[in-house]
Amino acid sequence: MRILLLHGPNLNLLGQREPEVYGHWTLAEINEMLVAEATKRNTELRVLQSNHEGVLIDAIHDARAWADGILINPGALTHYSYALRDALAGAALPAVEVHLSNIHAREEFRHRSVIAAVCVGQISGFGRHSYRLGLVALLDHLLE
Ligand code: DQA
Repeated sequence: MRILLLHGPNLNLLGQREPEVYGHWTLAEINEMLVAEATKRNTELRVLQSNHEGVLIDAIHDARAWADGILINPGALTHYSYALRDALAGAALPAVEVHLSNIHAREEFRHRSVIAAVCVGQISGFGRHSYRLGLVALLDHLLE
């Protein structure tokens, strides 16, 4: 299996950014954990973080040529990016949306995801474990 892992805006600051909300792990540490988990499951993980919507969209377009699925934390783009949603819908690859924090328990503007409807499912609120659970869920879905 080959999976594209995408991290959206501001997630490069994990560990320093609002640690009471997002935890103390850095993005590099989270990626390392996920690559280890993927390797255990015979899966190649290609990872990209970008603060730019277009870069994420280009990566989704490219993934059509090589990936079996997409694991994505779209950051704040979750709540308003129809362009990202259309890219995922157009790629027609199974995708799982993940969030470190429980977006439904936070400010009202975070309750809505415009991405969730084009994903297999959403995992939210388990800190760094959201990513691991999301990866396992995506692989289970793909292997079914
Ligand atoms: C987030 C939740 C978003 O609302 C926020 O804008 C983020 C991180 C999360 O992982 O909890 O940047 O996606």
